[in-house]
Amino acid sequence: MEQPQNPEPNKSADPLPSSVLAYLDPHYWDDRFSAEEHYEWFKDYSHFRHLIQAHVSPNSTVLELGCGNSQLSDELYKDGVRDITCIDLSKVAVERTQKRLLSKGYKEIKVLEADMLDLPFDDERFDVVIEKGTMDVLFVDSGDPWKPNPATVEKVMATLHGVHRVLKPDGVFISISFGQPHFRCPLFDAPQFSWSAEYSTFGDGFHYFFYILKKGKRPSSDGKASGDANKVPCISLYHEELETEDFLFRTNIDEMGT
Ligand SMILES: C[S@@+](CC[C@H](N)C(=O)[O-])C[C@H]1O[C@@H](n2cnc3c(N)ncnc32)[C@H](O)[C@@H]1O
Repeated sequence: MEQPQNPEPNKSADPLPSSVLAYLDPHYWDDRFSAEEHYEWFKDYSHFRHLIQAHVSPNSTVLELGCGNSQLSDELYKDGVRDITCIDLSKVAVERTQKRLLSKGYKEIKVLEADMLDLPFDDERFDVVIEKGTMDVLFVDSGDPWKPNPATVEKVMATLHGVHRVLKPDGVFISISFGQPHFRCPLFDAPQFSWSAEYSTFGDGFHYFFYILKKGKRPSSDGKASGDANKVPCISLYHEELETEDFLFRTNIDEMGT
């Protein structure tokens, strides 16, 4: 049975918002991170390390979008990656992440307060950009997932444009998400992007999606991504999963309006 990925929770904090719309509010995240030490959205690194390792090496320059209080960067560091930049919109997340990483001696990791919709980096700076659950936040008010609101699409496309811009010509964007391929691939496959789009899944019972977008590798014949629709998993949820915050998040992102 799956358990929430919250190994060191602050027991006095109740981080669940009254509405998922709170996930769009930077104040929500500041308040939450003031009280909560560590929470891994979806799953921790051990569950998808094998998938990441195919794309990240110790020499990679890595950008993580929306680090929150996840320890993904710590785990990458332990695997030998040194040029890591984490960003988050939440000042509290940035301050606390900086403090945690310095206390561990991981001083090469940079942590910046920045908006993923307007990335403050030069073109072609990174080998790999990673996000886990951060772009999913943009979908909480998307309405019908088959036809998301134009405002949602605009924010997602601003993020994707920025990611595509800061990736090196052969760079890779890794997006770890609840969002199912039939909702995410039409956005990843927009014609202005030169990347190919594939995905794998991980997790027991409920599957999470691990999207891999390889810049400069888009198939030229028909412009379609190389993801295989037959890989869409048959989702089977255990009762315990229905009670986790992850499920609340997913319900409102992908099933709202269906
Ligand atoms: C669902 S949490 C995921 C946190 C972390 N990636 C993890 O796996 O546990 C979303 C995070 O994205 C941050 N965030 C939301 N909107 C953002 C934006 N526009 N730019 C940067 N960070 C953002 C929030 O502050 C929060 O830390």
